[in-house]
Amino acid sequence: MRVRILGSAAGGGCPQWNCACPVCEAARVTSRPETGTRTQDSVAVSGDGRIWHLVNASPDIRTQLVTTAELAPGPGLRQTPLSSVLLTTAELDHTIGLLSLREAIELTVHATATVTAALEPMRQMLAAYTSVDFRPFEPELPGGLTLRRLTVGAKRPRYATTTGDDWVSALRLTDARSGSSFVYATCLPAWTEEFDEFVAGADEVLLDGTFGSDDELTRSTGRPGSAASMGHLPIVASRERLARHPGTRFRYGHLNNTNPAAGPDIATDGLDLPLR
Ligand code: MLT
Ligand code: MN
Ligand code: ZN
Repeated sequence: MRVRILGSAAGGGCPQWNCACPVCEAARVTSRPETGTRTQDSVAVSGDGRIWHLVNASPDIRTQLVTTAELAPGPGLRQTPLSSVLLTTAELDHTIGLLSLREAIELTVHATATVTAALEPMRQMLAAYTSVDFRPFEPELPGGLTLRRLTVGAKRPRYATTTGDDWVSALRLTDARSGSSFVYATCLPAWTEEFDEFVAGADEVLLDGTFGSDDELTRSTGRPGSAASMGHLPIVASRERLARHPGTRFRYGHLNNTNPAAGPDIATDGLDLPLR
């Protein structure tokens, strides 16, 4: 299976347009990736290297798609390797990109009933442009992948007026032939027993790297909001749990622009995870 990190930042990206924090300023000096420039969280996955699925549709989706050779259209005039979009939340930084896919001939989106209900206004808008089909998650995806889902969070987006239980999901994608598996969990409020079982035996896990510590946002911008209040387990807390899974490679994605973390376990835009 193939897994490509298209974007590794939380909502706003890095630099965020109106943020002059030290991390954004450093990223602004030059736009080279090594200075920390990040587009917003989205991952492309494929079982066979030909049929691809997006995990979340970020506001940066157009740039992410046109700079990824594997996702280029053809050979048919409007043929695309993109088969479906899997939404793990209804947050705007994971869903606005759907509006940028309105040129599609048809669009398949997998989401929980909770997320689907919240997105009713966006679904209505999209329906005027393309044939959009919101469906529940299914255990098999085209291209040889199997899928498991776990509800990990109950945080409703600020704009949402609907109710439900399954606001935030983690996904486990497995290559039906090689058995390799990838877990996506970039919005993880807590490391529960259930989540521990969910990641057990996975080859690669993309974890919640929004904040390094619980008070990072306030310390660096003066704005209110702990990591916990925003539904994000900070890196300092999740790192303690990794030793229990020695055979699994953990990396962090969805970095908020206040988070200066760098190093081999921090995902970067364009990273291909080494999977069989
Ligand atoms: C989150 O990840 O907590 C949300 O995307 C927050 C937001 O964008 O407002
Ligand atoms: Mn987010
Ligand atoms: Zn910033």
